Amino acid sequence: MTNGITMTNAVIECILSRSATKYYDPTATLSDDQIRELVRIGTTAPTSFHLQNWRFIAVRSPEAKARLRPIAWNQPAISEAAVTFIVCGQLADSGVVPERLAPVVEAGIMPAKMVPEWEIPARGLYMEYPQRQRDEAVRTATFGAAAMVYAARSLGLGSTPMIGFDPEAVHREFGLAEDEVPVMLLSIGAERPGNWPQKPRRPVADVLNLV
Ligand SMILES: Cc1cc2nc3c(=O)[nH]c(=O)nc-3n(C[C@H](O)[C@H](O)[C@H](O)COP(=O)(O)O)c2cc1C
Repeated sequence: MTNGITMTNAVIECILSRSATKYYDPTATLSDDQIRELVRIGTTAPTSFHLQNWRFIAVRSPEAKARLRPIAWNQPAISEAAVTFIVCGQLADSGVVPERLAPVVEAGIMPAKMVPEWEIPARGLYMEYPQRQRDEAVRTATFGAAAMVYAARSLGLGSTPMIGFDPEAVHREFGLAEDEVPVMLLSIGAERPGNWPQKPRRPVADVLNLV
């Protein structure tokens, strides 16, 4: 940082050095266990009321990639990256709060009597508000995807968040549920040479208001 303040460590270095991957090594694969581990890491991201309203469809077989690519602007990353996740957010539903909090109570983290203190405000926030339900689906999926992006980077893998796809077609082709939104595609895999470094950013002074 400027002004003589140094903020650096391995995590920050990982964040600062990430860029969106265009060119993947098409011969490099990830095992299903590695894919599971990426998703496990992703699901440690925070979610509103601990809703965990997400689902990840790992498109990693040649057949599944061939179904996804034509409905994703024919982007080569889908064929070439080891895996492309269809990161789905689920419309926020306060009714699932007790079930999502049960393991938290079980673990002794939250007292059981607190569960309604989360469920009731969640109901007030989302129940009558479809736009908020959808906003939360998008936020949740995005947090999960972001964690996976940086986990991938820390493992030396490239990643590409992608909005270039036909959401209705993806919904249909991959059997998403009525309450599921395909928020983004996220390709992850070993890179091949030729990718751009991270692009310059707008100055902090243009995007930060200190109040
Ligand atoms: C929501 C979102 C959607 C994106 N969609 C695509 C995409 O469909 N195809 C693609 O090649 N890159 C896509 N990108 C990558 C961006 O172009 C890239 O992150 C941006 O240019 C900044 O570059 P950098 O990530 O390398 O710093 C997307 C990124 C985000 C966050």
